[in-house]
Amino acid sequence: MKVERETALRAHEQRFREAGRVFGAPARVNLIGEHTDYTGGLVMPMAIGFRTEAVVSGRSDGRAVFYSENFGEEASFEIASMGRSPEGRWSDYPAGVLWCLREEGIEVGGFNMTLVGDVPLGAGLSSSASVEVATAMALLAHAGASLPMEKIATLCRRAENEYVGAKSGIMDQFVVVGAVAERAMLLDCRSLEYELLPLPAQVRVVICNSMVKHAVATGEYGDRRDEVEAGQAVLRKRLGIELLRDATVADLEACRDEMSAASFARCRHIITENGRVVMAKEALLRGDVERFGRLMVEAHASMRDDFAASCEEVDVLVEIAMRQEGCYGARITGGGFGGCTVNVVRAADAEPFVEALRGEYAEKTAIAAECFVCAPGDGALAMAAQEVGR
Ligand code: GLA
Repeated sequence: MKVERETALRAHEQRFREAGRVFGAPARVNLIGEHTDYTGGLVMPMAIGFRTEAVVSGRSDGRAVFYSENFGEEASFEIASMGRSPEGRWSDYPAGVLWCLREEGIEVGGFNMTLVGDVPLGAGLSSSASVEVATAMALLAHAGASLPMEKIATLCRRAENEYVGAKSGIMDQFVVVGAVAERAMLLDCRSLEYELLPLPAQVRVVICNSMVKHAVATGEYGDRRDEVEAGQAVLRKRLGIELLRDATVADLEACRDEMSAASFARCRHIITENGRVVMAKEALLRGDVERFGRLMVEAHASMRDDFAASCEEVDVLVEIAMRQEGCYGARITGGGFGGCTVNVVRAADAEPFVEALRGEYAEKTAIAAECFVCAPGDGALAMAAQEVGR
């Protein structure tokens, strides 16, 4: 389903019998730099065409009413007495954003909100950040307030960390707010400085959903973070290195005896991945797609072997992809344990690539993969600015 602003506005009118204002936020795909964000590292995501639309209108009784068109469900409560009380369902994401805005001292009056989106859930494309950022944009406008880009991103991350209870880093929210069309974003997750990098015109980014679901809020993502943090704590104690971002593989080797084999391997992935992001940037600036692709394949092997965050089906997708004509690189993208691969493919080969990948994957796994040929899109702020200019 492709979600258009008009569809969202109509859904809101049907539900609440009144017109609203609409604010959108995209999903994202990460080209390279996985599991580096929460240790101050480097990532290279871009926004993609899937999006969440949040439609908002005021109400006078001081209540927050969130309606999800996708789930066909409503969540409603009094704003003034709201606490931090997640319920383990979709409404935790928008409610968490409201909670954070209030924590920032932003007064939000009663409202009705309709959320509607086409971001595949649990596919590693940041459906959660998309919902959070769309909600933040709508509620800020409703409150007559504005915040700088960085603040919107950190606030939405806080909603996810402290309200929803998922320990995610800053990558998703940052790129979903700040992306710019036709550019990938190289983000330094420690300083929050970023560069916008052009992708060569002769390639397409193809996303392929293995259809194996993952959930950041539970399980393995949190386990990996604990393993990483345990390793980082050893580096801190032994060598005074605060963040893995500043460690070398030699530093890690020097501490090997003091950490579990799992922590060692997870940290090695992160250290080598930061190096690959820097090399990937250089390759992009030189227009060297072959090199960029090889770095993606190395990144996949590192996610699979050192970070142990791939799965059989995703490995099959990468293996098939790399045998196809015109495919420069393929890797798992996002949190891992299922979800999507991201592939960089020669533009002229993109359609046959999708066909071959789907066919061979179905043969091997009996699963019908969904594939999308994407271009880097705008983030929520650029989308809002365009709306004003229309
Ligand atoms: C999820 C998290 C991000 C990041 C990635 C892995 O998408 O939300 O913060 O950690 O996993 O790179």
